[in-house]
Order: sequence, then C-alpha cells, then structure tokens
Amino acid sequence: MGHNVVILAAGRGTRMKSQRPKVLHRLGGRALLQHVLDAAAGVAASRVVVVVGHGGDEVEAACAAPGRVFVRQEPQLGTGHAVQQAVPALDPHAPTTLILNGDVPLVTAATARALVDACGGERLALLTMTPADPHGYGRIVRDGERVLAIVEEKDATPAQRAIGEVYTGMMAAPTAALGRWVAALKNDNAQREYYLTDVVAMAVADGVPVVGLPVADETEALGVNSPQQLADLERRLQRRHADALMTAGVRLADPARIDVRGTLECGTDVEIDVGCVFEGRVVLGDGVTVGPHCVLRDTTVAAGARIEAFSHLDGAQVGADARVGPYARLRPGAVLGDEVHIGNFVEVKNSTLARGAKANHLAYLGDATVGERVNYGAGSITANYDGVHKHRTVIGDDVLIGSNCVLVAPVTIGAGATIGGGSTITDDAPAGELTLARGRQVTIAGWKRPVKTKSGKTSDGGR
Ligand code: UD1
Ligand code: CA
Repeated sequence: MGHNVVILAAGRGTRMKSQRPKVLHRLGGRALLQHVLDAAAGVAASRVVVVVGHGGDEVEAACAAPGRVFVRQEPQLGTGHAVQQAVPALDPHAPTTLILNGDVPLVTAATARALVDACGGERLALLTMTPADPHGYGRIVRDGERVLAIVEEKDATPAQRAIGEVYTGMMAAPTAALGRWVAALKNDNAQREYYLTDVVAMAVADGVPVVGLPVADETEALGVNSPQQLADLERRLQRRHADALMTAGVRLADPARIDVRGTLECGTDVEIDVGCVFEGRVVLGDGVTVGPHCVLRDTTVAAGARIEAFSHLDGAQVGADARVGPYARLRPGAVLGDEVHIGNFVEVKNSTLARGAKANHLAYLGDATVGERVNYGAGSITANYDGVHKHRTVIGDDVLIGSNCVLVAPVTIGAGATIGGGSTITDDAPAGELTLARGRQVTIAGWKRPVKTKSGKTSDGGR
C-alpha cells in the first residue's frame, strides 16, 4: 500500500529577493524542491501532491513528472490552508500522508520513512528538534511524555517560549483524520492564519496518539529563506558529499573546497585537489588524479589518467594513463584513447584521438579522427566549419603535423605523413610523404629599411 506525500511550496520567499520561485533555487546543482521530491521517492508514495502558489507555473514546468500532482494555493492563508488545498488530490486509500516542505531540502529518505513508519496509518507523527535557538519555531507542548499541542512562537506564553523542543515542519498523519482535522481549522490566532500545527490538539482530543520523533541531524530540518541560508546548506550538502567520498577512500586535498553538483563515482586511490567542480555524472577510474580548479561535467576518466590544474572537461571520455592540461578544454564528444596527451590551451571537440596521440600546446581539434601516436604541433587547427556545415578531418597513424598548420576539412592525412609547419592543407596529403603548402622563403638582397629624412618624409627603402 502506497502513501501520500504533500509538499508545501507555496510560500513567497521574500528574503531571497529573487524573481525565481524560492523552491527552484539550486542546491548542489538541483532545485530545492527536487531534493525534497527525491527524499519523497524513498517512501513508496502512491501520490505526491505539491502545493504551489507564487511562480506556480514555473515550478510546475520545472518539476512535472508522471504521477505528480500540483495544486494551487491562492492566496496563501497558512500551512493548514495549504494542506486543505491538497486534500482533494490525495489517494484516500493510502493510510498515511507525509507532509514535507519544499524549502527544507536536506531531509533524507530514511527520515521520511521513519516518520511514515511512526505514523503507521494510526498515529500522528511529528518530526521535532531541540535547536540552540528555538526562536520562531512552533514549540512542542508536552505533559510528561505525552505531546499535547504545538504552539506557534507568536501565540506562545512566556512559559511556552521557554520550551526548547520545536516542530520542524514535517509530519505524518492518518489520511482520513487529516482531512477531517484540516477542514475544521480556524484562524483565530496571532497571525490570522490557518495553522497546520493546530491538528495536534485535535488529534489529542480525538484520542489519536501523537508521537514526537527527534530528527537525527538538524541539518535535515534547516530551511532556506535567504541567500545566506542557501549558501550555508550548500556547504553542509558538500560536506556530506566529501565525507562519503573520503569514506570510500578518495583523498581530497580539502573537504571544504569541493563542489559536487551531480554524481561523482570514484575508483580506488583517486586524488582530488582543491577547488574542483563536478557536474552531472562524472566517473573517475582507479588512480586518477585531478589537479586544482578543474571543472568536470558528464565526463569519464579511465584509470591512471591525470587531469592537471585549470582544465575544463565537458562530455568527454579520457583514456587510461592519459594526461590532460594544465589549461586544457575538452568539449562534448572529445574521446581520448589511452596515453593521449592534451596540453595547455588545447581545445578538443567531437574528436577521437587514438592511443598515444599528442597535442601538447595551443591547438584546436574539432570534428577530427586522429590516429595512434600522432603528434599535432603547436598552433595547428582544424578548419572544420565553412560557416554552414561541419566537416571531418582524418589524420592517420604516426602522422606528424608541424606547428601553425590549418587543416581545411574535409581533408585526410595519410598514415605516416609529415605536414610542414605553417602549411594550409586543402587537399588530401598522401601517406608517408612530406607535404608543404606555404609561401616559399625569399631573401631580397640589398634591401634597405625606410629611414626618416629631415623634411619628415620617409624614403621608400629602395623598392
Ligand atoms: C511552520 C510551523 C512551525 C514550525 C516551522 C518550521 C505552522 C503554523 N507553523 O512555521 O510550527 O516550527 O514551520 O519551519 O505550520 N506554506 C505554504 N502556504 C502557506 C504558508 C506556508 O505553502 O500559506 C509553506 C511555505 O512555503 C513553507 C512551509 O509551508 O515551505 C512552512 O511555512 P513557513 O511560513 O516557513 O513556516 P511557519 O508558518 O513560519
Ligand atoms: Ca508563516
């Protein structure tokens, strides 16, 4: 039997001072709401209902998925009012309804499951915590062990404000009772809002047991209301990633200076220097080292390869024992074989380099197929684009391309050929031969440099 999940995401997020709806701000490369949806995916939900308000269209467009329902709350009259809007969309046969917040992103699937289990379709389970400063939170009012009510800060007596245990904003309730309770909510309180938290006293009155479940790690209950809080949660999330990587044996030069905005899978003996950013799905094989300040996105690096400082790899595949950088740029479709070397200020796009090929300095390879052991000289480029179409350059095994060559595609350089430096190659070059395509060097005997005359005119240097 599945469960209902309601995610409250209608709030405005004024303090973000942003045009973007709050729950679409990014944490670890994903929308805040996406983190909560991922946690919700851990509870075998039969229905997920997201309550949206401000920027609802945008939120829905960004996070729509099959089986996910978006309901509107206009205007926003409180958390209880938000749940009222969700009730008609719930699966009435799901015994438990879990309520999460779209702006509390680091809740784990394990905690979501623990709440659902504590409810069991017949108890009201509240996730609580005891923060250093309880100011602003709803207080958990108990009589001994028994939870009696949640009182909001603004409605609390001084004695109640002294309570340290607070409500995190997450609960799990029996579905049918929740529907009855929220329908009966009143707004006769300090904020003239319909408080979801008033359902606690209703449960007590109905004889439904109320369970307070302390959260394992308060990071799970932290919300995002400002850019400062967003940045704080980003560091906490990155610390989670860093700890998981180090537990798996990855050596990080500094766990406070890594950013994983997707998934990073590492083999054994991987070393990562400071300031690296990993986006999308990145896989690093055994013994890979990544130098400082590299960006790797959707890239696979095979065993033993070294990525040197300040390199940018996007949609690339790097072969075993290859060397990339410093200051290299690999763009989508760059496929490097084993032991390939790509040096400083070399850009590779949609090109395959076979084993042992080298482009060590200041070069561009676009739409090229490069054979084994090719040496591609400094300053050489493929002219792969005629303004409309892209064309391929094919370079055979053991070719030596001198410095400052332009290979005007489509063009094929036969295996073992040598292309003299400074050549502009527009026709295929035969295998095994030296091909040159450049102006011949001439010397003008007796030529004189122009010199200034007294009248200010210049002589023409005798030509
Ligand atoms: C709420 C709880 C408080 C708890 C605190 C934890 C109530 C009445 N109080 O406080 O006990 O300690 O969370 O952070 O529930 N939202 C809507 N529609 C609305 C109002 C809010 O969707 O009309 C959403 C917000 O976007 C947010 C969540 O509900 O995701 C919580 O709202 P917020 O205003 O932050 O919480 P409080 O009401 O201050
Ligand atoms: Ca509020």
